[in-house]
Amino acid sequence: MTSAIFGTRIIAAPMAGGTSTPRFVESVHLAGGVGFLAAGYKTAAAMESDMREVRSAGAPFGMNLFVPDRSQLDPPAGVRRQLEDYRRSLETDARRYGVSLPALRLDDDDAWRDKIDALLADPVEFVSFTFGLPEPAEVQALKRAGSTLLATVTSAAEALLAVERGADILVVQHWSAGGHSGAFLAPAGPTDSPGPATTAELLTAVRTAVDVPLVAAGGIMDSAGVDAVLAAGATAAQLGTAFLRSDESGARQLHKDSLASRDFSGTRMTRAFTGRQARALVNAFVRDHGDAPEGYPAIHHLTAPIRAAAAAAGDPERLNLWAGTGWRQAAARPVPVIMAGLLAGSSLS
Ligand SMILES: Cc1cc2nc3c(=O)[nH]c(=O)nc-3n(C[C@H](O)[C@H](O)[C@H](O)COP(=O)(O)O)c2cc1C
Repeated sequence: MTSAIFGTRIIAAPMAGGTSTPRFVESVHLAGGVGFLAAGYKTAAAMESDMREVRSAGAPFGMNLFVPDRSQLDPPAGVRRQLEDYRRSLETDARRYGVSLPALRLDDDDAWRDKIDALLADPVEFVSFTFGLPEPAEVQALKRAGSTLLATVTSAAEALLAVERGADILVVQHWSAGGHSGAFLAPAGPTDSPGPATTAELLTAVRTAVDVPLVAAGGIMDSAGVDAVLAAGATAAQLGTAFLRSDESGARQLHKDSLASRDFSGTRMTRAFTGRQARALVNAFVRDHGDAPEGYPAIHHLTAPIRAAAAAAGDPERLNLWAGTGWRQAAARPVPVIMAGLLAGSSLS
């Protein structure tokens, strides 16, 4: 079953931090999928430049934005103290690479307004959001501009809020997903495995709560995984980790190699790198900083010099090696080969 909305059942997830390059998104399109560019961490000008590049190649695409959590910006004194304590706990790592830690940065909203303005001036077909919901006026303006809006949710409760806010489609993200969790309500259970055991089960739970098209995300690594979420009612599957090692992915070679390395034996949800829960391969940094407080993006900025120095030194132990639970199946292949595998052998295609 090919989704009428996307013209495909495979969406390549937006992957901020360098993975979802224009070339990657173009190659996903040419191979029969839809790709999303990732605006996270970028300036609005860099986001617009990516859009121009993909457009000039004639590929339909989506754009993904991080929604700033206003409660994390300019936090109260108690939270600042926790962040300062965490900053001190990073000093050994900073010394290891001879880098200094920056002062706390508490005002970064990822150029939110500039990005919304750019998308209103030059609308794209699909805009997806993670970490929260845009304001009602922003939702209405983007829709008037002609964009279809996708909101990332991790539970039925978040799904209800997103639909009430006006989301046209939901990206239902299971805890098995690599990278940041899009959760914006406090989890109901333990953070590493809250709620339904599988992506298909989460999708079923969300489907009973809302009546909009659902895109399934988390741990989908092959055509059987795609079939399972389509059978549960998804209109398409959004895959990240399955594409991380692809030739066209802009992920660092060190990240790609780590996903293939037998030195790593598991993934874990961690706030150590950014102050927001994200699933990563368990390395020394994840083990050493299991107590990281909540504080996105303050902690993202604090750890940036350590991560950059680790990458430059070729040291995977202090780099954020985002990975979903299916990471062992991520193949170092060209995108068309990965896409062919995802589209082949499906009982539902
Ligand atoms: C390296 C990496 C970066 C990601 N960056 C983003 C992002 O910028 N925006 C977003 O909405 N999701 C992001 N995600 C999450 C994906 O959208 C998706 O939920 C996830 O990859 C699905 O799980 P999987 O990795 O098991 O396929 C990222 C995932 C990875 C692995």
